[in-house]
Amino acid sequence: MSDTQPGNIENVLQEDRRFPPPAEFKPRVSFKTNAEYEAAWNRAKDDPAGFWGELAKENLEWFEPFTSVMSGDMPETKWFEGGKINASVQCLDRHLEKNANKAAIIWEGEPGDTRVLRYQDLHREVCKFANVLKRLGIETGDRVTIYMPMVPELVIAMLACARIGATHSIIFAGFSAEAVADRNNDAQAKLVITADAGWRRGKEVPLKAAVDESLEKSPSVEKVVVYQRTGADVTMVPDRDYWWHELMENESTDCEAVALDSEHPLFILYTSGSTGKPKGVLHTTAGYMLGTTMTTRWTFDLSDEDTYWCTADIGWITGHSYIVYGPLSNGATSVMYEGAPNWPDEGRFWELVEKYQVSIFYTAPTAIRAFMKWGDQWPGKADLSSLRLLGTVGEPINPEAWMWYHEVIGGERCPIVDTWWQTETGGIMLTPVPGVTETKPGSCTKPLPGVVPAIFDEQGNALEINQGGLLVMTQPWPHMLRTLYGDHDRFVETYFSKFEGIYFAGDGARTDEDGYYWILGRVDDVLNVSGHRLSTMEVESALVAHEAVAEAAVVGFPHDLKGEGICCFVTLKSGEPNAEMKKELTAHVRKQIGAIATPDQIRFAPALPKTRSGKIMRRLLRDIAAGRETAGDTTTLEDSNILAALRKNDDS
Ligand code: WTA
Repeated sequence: MSDTQPGNIENVLQEDRRFPPPAEFKPRVSFKTNAEYEAAWNRAKDDPAGFWGELAKENLEWFEPFTSVMSGDMPETKWFEGGKINASVQCLDRHLEKNANKAAIIWEGEPGDTRVLRYQDLHREVCKFANVLKRLGIETGDRVTIYMPMVPELVIAMLACARIGATHSIIFAGFSAEAVADRNNDAQAKLVITADAGWRRGKEVPLKAAVDESLEKSPSVEKVVVYQRTGADVTMVPDRDYWWHELMENESTDCEAVALDSEHPLFILYTSGSTGKPKGVLHTTAGYMLGTTMTTRWTFDLSDEDTYWCTADIGWITGHSYIVYGPLSNGATSVMYEGAPNWPDEGRFWELVEKYQVSIFYTAPTAIRAFMKWGDQWPGKADLSSLRLLGTVGEPINPEAWMWYHEVIGGERCPIVDTWWQTETGGIMLTPVPGVTETKPGSCTKPLPGVVPAIFDEQGNALEINQGGLLVMTQPWPHMLRTLYGDHDRFVETYFSKFEGIYFAGDGARTDEDGYYWILGRVDDVLNVSGHRLSTMEVESALVAHEAVAEAAVVGFPHDLKGEGICCFVTLKSGEPNAEMKKELTAHVRKQIGAIATPDQIRFAPALPKTRSGKIMRRLLRDIAAGRETAGDTTTLEDSNILAALRKNDDS
């Protein structure tokens, strides 16, 4: 926990603009009126078992019906016990009768190559690859690491795991070999699925080479499947490494899905917490599938007539829930794009919107700020009139970016859904209902049905309107995480010990006089860099692992594009505090964690500012990193000369 005690969080944003739902937006499959939304919300609050039980019967495909909707208090709530289900059936088989020929995925590679996979194509490939997995010795309950670029085979690999009940653990392809090894070990993965390389801004990202390096440190992995994407040179180790295309050749297209318990682990996804060790967030099958199915429909109004594009990477929860499981469960048509938004130029996204007539577009505030910086001429070149709904996720959106999105991309006719949620929550929790909820730039507005939030002070008292405090969830929901893989104590401690039996999200928030929620950012040591979570401790551990570093403290600071930048304060035990050393430490952090953790500033000092009891004064470091005057009390500081040294050190 940071040294600043949250619970009375200051709020500086004043935003009075309001946007009533545009008249031309007609909800198709979501709530049609505010009264309808409110009735559903009240019902879910008062009778969660009745509410979710009915939805689960209507919207999920069961091998065997459940005998209980929910049992047990948070954090041990179990959902849909007795039921037998399979997520790949929910996403594929169910649609074959009516929608076999409908496009499930319209994919475009960064170099411009394209593929369309209809529901029957995806089903066929998933069945084949599920058979491959079995042939490689993968069984129900085994863990499989997936470390791939944004190609359809990534989706195929996920759903093939789901089909046989293997638990997938996807690692974002921007993470380093070290990060892959850690996650392989934590999950005790038996198999890694990867590609030779991926494309990013015209360059090859060597994925197989990173896997090779990771395997020196992750002995649980027995085999590797390699999808050939770029044709890069790779080393194939006999009896360990297999080409995807060779394995798939002549493989049977018949693969019966395994009937799994509702609470069978569907996937693990590692995310950063307050310590250096990433947390393996575990989601199970039925509750997660119901949550993603319903929240996709309620939030995006995703119907048969839509072409939907979520620009996230599947390596993050947004891609899991809103590229793969939610949209496919709804039988939707999704665009999937492999590469960077500014390749070959800054107009790529808008060209894709026009080319595929995208009607629903979901992206991150950090991307929106980059688009703003690149200039209106890029979206101006494309016809964006197919768009009817816009969404954002990942961090609080600044009202300026919201307004730009609304005007330049949405042509002032598209509702914006600012969706607050987390890896842990599995699906969207707070969001406007499109065409129904009046929006305010910067507010994620209201809870979806089944979500009962509150704002607490440190003692667990509910706060009044406009008082900043801690965001909590007071009622369980089907798509919440069930545990941290292999560490149930840490799960209980992290989320349910601050307020017993109540889910503590780690975010600060306030509500306004209309009951709208305003997220004030993380209250723990989690950074939000370009919408991606990193813990300050993770970066600190990486730094102190370098032989020249004696001590390091890492804090976030406001960054125009990334939302939050990474500032590292470093004390050296050897070497010179110069530009060369900065370069070396930067490269070192990238190697340890990955490019997303690239430090924005490195500042050297002979010592770090500490209290007399030896605690690093992060509050001061945050002020220095942000270039602010030091606010508040510095009298507890052990050596006040240190501050001056750190401030001077701003040539990065
Ligand atoms: C932040 C991403 C404000 C928040 C789905 C949360 C947001 C963390 C929003 C989770 C939003 C996400 N407004 N803040 N609309 N969406 N966040 O696990 O701090 O990668 O706790 O999940 O991102 O990040 P995660």
